[in-house]
Amino acid sequence: MSIVYLNGEFLPLDEARVSVLDRGFIFGDGVYEVIPVYGGRLFRLAQHLKRLHNSLTAVRIANPLDTEQWRTVLEGIVARHGTADQSLYLQVTRGVAKRDHSFPADTVPTVFVMSSPLAPPAPDVLAQGVKAITLDDIRWQYCQVKAITLLANVLLRQQAIDGDAAEAILLRDGQVTEGAASNVFVVDDGVILTPPKDERLLPGITRDLVVELAAANGLPCLEKPVSQAVLAQATEIWLTSSTREVVPVTRLDNAAVGGGTPGPAWKRMYDIFQDYKDALREGREH
Ligand code: PDD
Repeated sequence: MSIVYLNGEFLPLDEARVSVLDRGFIFGDGVYEVIPVYGGRLFRLAQHLKRLHNSLTAVRIANPLDTEQWRTVLEGIVARHGTADQSLYLQVTRGVAKRDHSFPADTVPTVFVMSSPLAPPAPDVLAQGVKAITLDDIRWQYCQVKAITLLANVLLRQQAIDGDAAEAILLRDGQVTEGAASNVFVVDDGVILTPPKDERLLPGITRDLVVELAAANGLPCLEKPVSQAVLAQATEIWLTSSTREVVPVTRLDNAAVGGGTPGPAWKRMYDIFQDYKDALREGREH
C-alpha cells in the first residue's frame, strides 16, 4: 500500500481521510503541484516550490511549510517508494470549515502529498507522436495559478479524448495559450516558439526547462505569442508537462503536422531532455 502524507503524518493511502467540509472538496479551494522524481531525486524542486508559493499567495493561503519542511516531507514520501521514477502530487487546501464562500477565520490548511509511478513516454508516442485538437480556451483569468479547480481543464481534455486525440490545444482571441494539462511549443520557420508567460497559461516547469535547454544548446527559441495561423502552419508542435516530458504532436485537427512524423527539432530536444534526466539521476543536476 502506497504511503501518503496528510497533515503531519505518513500513513497508508487507504487510511488517509479528510472531512467532507474540506474547502478543497466543497469549493475546489486549493492549489497543487506535480513534481517528477528521477532515480530518487526531485526534479527542479526549487522551481516547483516557488510556483507553489506563488499559487498560494495568489489565492491568499499562507504557505503552511517552509522550504526545508517541504523538502523533508517530499523526500519522506520519495524514500518510502524506492528509487523507481515517480511523480509526487502535492495539494494544499484552505482547510475545513462550515460552508461559506468567504474565507473562514483561523482555518488550518490541509496538506496532502502522494506518489504515483512515473512512466516515460511510450515507444509508440515517441515513434508516431500524438494527435491534438484545437478548442476554445473557456477557462478563467488566473491560469497562472495551479488551482485544484480543474473542471474546465477536465472537460477540455475529455473532449480531446472523445475526438480520439491525446490533448486539446487551447485558443484565446486567436492565440495559443496552452494544452488542457500541458504547455505548447511550435517550430515555425526553423525557430522554436512558445507563448510568453502571463495570466493565460500555467508557467510550466518543463516548459521553462525546455526554453533553458534550447538556449544552452544553441537552438533558436523565442517566448513569443503563437497565433492560430502559426499553429496551423507549424512544421512541428510539442507538448510539455511533468508527466509527459516533451511529446511531439503529429496530427492537429486531423491534418498532418509537417511531414506527419516527429520532427528533427523535437528529436534533438528529446535527446537533450533525456541527458538532463540522466544528469539528475547521477546528482549532476537538480
Ligand atoms: N499539469 N499547463 C497546465 C494547465 C497543466 O495542468 C500542466 C501540468 C502544465 C505543465 O506544467 P509542468 O511542466 O510544470 O508540469 C501546463 C500536471 C502535470 C497535472 O495537472 O497533472
